[in-house]
This record gives sequence, C-alpha cells and structure tokens, in this order.
Amino acid sequence: MAVDLLLGLQWGDEGKGKIVDVLTQNYNLISRFQGGPNAGHTLIFDGHKHVLHTIPSGIFHKEAVNVVGNGVVIDPVIFNKEIDDLSKFDVDFKNVLLISRKAHLILPTHRLLDAASEKAKGKDKIGSTLKGIGPTYMDKTGRNGMRVGDLELDNWKEIFENLTQKHLKMIDFYGVELDYNLDELRANFFAAVDKLKELTFIDSEEYLHTAIKENKTILAEGAQGSLLDVDFGTYPFVTSSNTTAAGACTGLGVAPNQIGEVFGIFKAYTTRVGSGPFPTELFDEDGATMAKVGHEFGATTGRARRCGWLDMVALKYACQVNGVTQLNMMKADVLSGFETIKVCTAYKYKGEVIEHFPYNIEPENVQPIYTELKGWKEDLTGMTSEAELPAALNDYIAFIEKETGIKITIVSVGPDRKQTIER
Ligand code: IMP
Repeated sequence: MAVDLLLGLQWGDEGKGKIVDVLTQNYNLISRFQGGPNAGHTLIFDGHKHVLHTIPSGIFHKEAVNVVGNGVVIDPVIFNKEIDDLSKFDVDFKNVLLISRKAHLILPTHRLLDAASEKAKGKDKIGSTLKGIGPTYMDKTGRNGMRVGDLELDNWKEIFENLTQKHLKMIDFYGVELDYNLDELRANFFAAVDKLKELTFIDSEEYLHTAIKENKTILAEGAQGSLLDVDFGTYPFVTSSNTTAAGACTGLGVAPNQIGEVFGIFKAYTTRVGSGPFPTELFDEDGATMAKVGHEFGATTGRARRCGWLDMVALKYACQVNGVTQLNMMKADVLSGFETIKVCTAYKYKGEVIEHFPYNIEPENVQPIYTELKGWKEDLTGMTSEAELPAALNDYIAFIEKETGIKITIVSVGPDRKQTIER
C-alpha cells in the first residue's frame, strides 16, 4: 500500500517526531493531516534538539518531500518562525515543503477567541495550548473559514477583515478582559502571509494521488494522540481534529484502501498535559520520578506533564479505533529502577469491572485495576540490540503484545535517533 500512518495512541507527546525521523529514509513523502502549531514534535540528532510544530518531521532528510495537508490548520506567523529556525539547515523550502490550498488559516483573532473561551470557562477550562486551534476548526466546520488558497485571491485582505470583525464581536460576547493590540497583530499576520506566499501552494489531494500512481511511498504523520481525538478522546478535554487513522483519509484526501501499515506510538507509561480525566495518573513519588527522568515538559507550551502508569484499557481502545499494525514503545529507559511496573488492565466503573473505554471518564466513576510486573534496574540508554534488553523488560513487552495482539517492532531507549532498537 502507498500510505503508511504514524499515530500517537495516548494523549500526545508519545515521541512521534523521533520515529518519523527514524522512518523517513524509507519514504519519498511525509505529510501532516491534522492539527496545527499546538503540536510539538521533538527530533534529536547530531547533538542538537529541534522542535517542529506544523512542518512535517521529514524536513531534515534531503530526499523527502513534505506536504502540509488540507486537514491541518496553519498560523502563518508561527509557520514562518519555524522556517526561520531551520535556516541553518539549507532547506530548499520552495521545493520540499508543499502546502495544501485547502488547509485553513489561523487568524490572530482565532487565538484571541481561544483565550477568551478558556478564560470564560474558568476552572473547567480545556487547558488548550491557546494557538487558536478550536476556533479555527469551528470556522472550518461552520463554513466560515479562510483557506490557504484564498491568499491567491485579490480580495484576501477583505476576507480576512470580514472574519476578523466577526471574531471581535464574538470576543465581546465572552465578556472577559483580553489584552491585545489588533493593529500589531494584523501587521504581523500580513507580513507573515507575504513570506508564506513565497512557498508552494498545491492541490495536495491531486498531488498525492499522482504520487501514489507513481508508486511513491508516503508516510502520514499524526499529531496529538488518539485520546485527544474530537470523537473518540476524553471529550470535551480533547483537541478539535480527528487524530485517529480516519483523520488521515479526510485530512489528505487519501482513500482508506490506500492505507498500509499503521504505526501506533505509545510511551512505556502515560502522560497528559492540560486538563481532563487520566485514570492512571500518579500523585506520588513514582509519578514525580517519571516526570523528572522523562523530562516531561511540553515541547510547545513548556507546561509540566501529568504522569502515570500504562493504561492498557485505553491502549487497546486506541489500537482498535486506528487498526494499528505495529506498536512502537517509547521511553522504555525512563522506567529503569522501579521495583514493580504497574499496568492498568481494567477499570472499576460505577462499581462494576469493565475492560473497555467508557463514554465518560469522570475521576469519581473510574478507578484503575492494576496488574503488577517485575521492574528492572539496568540503564537502557546505551543498549543497541534486542539481545541486551533485561528479562523483566522483555516480560513487559510480551505482556503488552499479548494484551493488544500486536507486535512491538521498535523500543526506544533514549531521545537520540540512535537510541532505537528494532525487533
Ligand atoms: P488545543 O488543541 O490547543 O485546543 O488543546 C486541547 C487539549 O489538547 C489540551 O489539553 C492540550 O494540552 C492538548 N494538546 C494539544 N496539542 C497537544 C500536543 O501536541 N501534545 C499533547 N497535548 C496536546
């Protein structure tokens, strides 16, 4: 099949950027299909760390073409900053970074609306990255949005202004104090659009169909994670796009029968940033150790991530929804040193034991039921082959494979490209 998918199976931050970077050499094209600058994909190689937000993670490989698909939302200001940050890499952006005309634009007032909405929600806030993601997708599905292709029209500033004025009225409706300078925001946006227009805009679905016909290999890179999917995640504490496999079809215009491998990326434990339910969250020393050893701070917002044990109920659910064909386990090294490793294999839900992911996960209704496995002491970060892995880790891997029925083909033992063990 022409298109392989790479998806996060938890609440994001699974380490997708690293695996895309490792796999990129096998593909002609890397594409993003949903989300926007709320994502932060971290790649570490040659002693340097790079964080990508909207640009696909294939950008560092000279031979790969990178496509930002129609399902993505683009903030020109952040996009250009990302490009500036990559200036030392001598990337031929015009030819290797192609943007769908159907992708929607994040306007400055979308970001303000995000802030107003969160402020108005008070303690019930979603914990949004405040990049304007929700309001932009609302305009898209509400059929009011502004698309990249609109920038090729003579009257694009008029379209921008009409939408901006509408947003200002909506901001008033929220009745919260926001500090902003619209003239400055508008000027920055216009300057960023001028630079964005130096890149190549394409009819990306057509481009991808042609690539498929020419037997090119395509990797679709997901952002966020399955439990943040607007339909299948822990609604309303989710993002505003379909982060699951189906999102790649709508976000790229690729037919389901073109999908081949589905790489499911998960951490050996679980993290979550922002608000919302998290049944295996730890508030003790173990959680603090995971956060410290795993450097669990958001790549986009710098916020501390909440940490907990692996949730097998949620992982199995994500495997099902996505049709995962291969699992990749990230950050196995972070669990070195724990006496026992716990895995949540069922929930106590309103007094009953259940093994599926229920409609609503309120903390008072869901308690994790754990299976305990033996931990390991060895430092994994220098290991390079499966033969070196400690027996207790192999047992942990075997346990997950048995529960999910899916093989773990990559075990990551550190952030560098090289710290990757194939099985
Ligand atoms: P939004 O997509 O910025 O509106 O954020 C909605 C929720 O998704 C919040 O809980 C965010 O913390 C979370 N979120 C959004 N993008 C990411 C990501 O790339 N990694 C982890 N969490 C994310």
